Amino acid sequence: MLQNSLSIHPSGGGVGAFVDNIDLGTLDETQAGTLKSALGDYGVLFFRDQNITTDQHLAMAEHFGGVNVNRFFAHVPEEPRIAEVRKEPDQKANIGGGWHTDHSYDQIPAMGSILLARETPPQGGDTLFANMYSAYESLSDGLKATLEGLNAVHSSRHVFGRNSNYKRGGKDIGDRLGNEDAAQQDAVHPVVIRHPISGKKALYVNSAFTLHFEGWTAEESKPLLDYLYAHASRPEHTYRFQWANGSIAFWDNRATWHYAVNDYHGHRRLMHRVTVEGCEIGR
Ligand code: SIN
Repeated sequence: MLQNSLSIHPSGGGVGAFVDNIDLGTLDETQAGTLKSALGDYGVLFFRDQNITTDQHLAMAEHFGGVNVNRFFAHVPEEPRIAEVRKEPDQKANIGGGWHTDHSYDQIPAMGSILLARETPPQGGDTLFANMYSAYESLSDGLKATLEGLNAVHSSRHVFGRNSNYKRGGKDIGDRLGNEDAAQQDAVHPVVIRHPISGKKALYVNSAFTLHFEGWTAEESKPLLDYLYAHASRPEHTYRFQWANGSIAFWDNRATWHYAVNDYHGHRRLMHRVTVEGCEIGR
């Protein structure tokens, strides 16, 4: 196979592209450059049959900015840099079962994640992705102009802290999440960001971590945020990815949201997630 003969095909849905003819275990700088640019354009890249080792998984992240170790997720035994997204047959709650973008509570949010399927259920367990470029572009000029003057406040406290959404109501998330006392991040970001790779404008609020618009109360913010969440998750902005063992989704947090569908009770689903460092984001 020729080096750099990879091929990229749009998913056919509202976001993402499939990348074929590549072995991510032996990724080189030229291929990584092509993938980075495609990630900026498509928001999420999907790969099949990538049975890479943990070292190769970590090495892949080094091409895109290095590893960002998640504070809250349980990790793979003896490899704290790889988070485990695991649901066992006796659990009902899953991780990531709602629309969100990771790490928006950090002032320098992680660039994205490389999620590798190690064990998939016989059916279900798909992940939905949504396109924050098209979510922004399809708004009216009037609403775009309003949003471009706004910032929003994001936090980790209500999601990963002691009295968090995950911990309340006896959810059987088990020991998959922890380190509650480290959930002290608050960040302010523009509601419309300029994507650091593509230069395109993207909507940057999400229902998991965004609390309110800066200078507005939560009550005042809620109707407009709810409108944006409903708008951005419309089917025309989304794609539903079906996993198989060895599949990888590499998403960009600044251009997409994702949602882990929780429809496979009674079966194990085990994913390895390496999160990639990001950079400052602005208008
Ligand atoms: C996540 O939100 O990082 C997990 C996504 C998934 O398990 O599909």
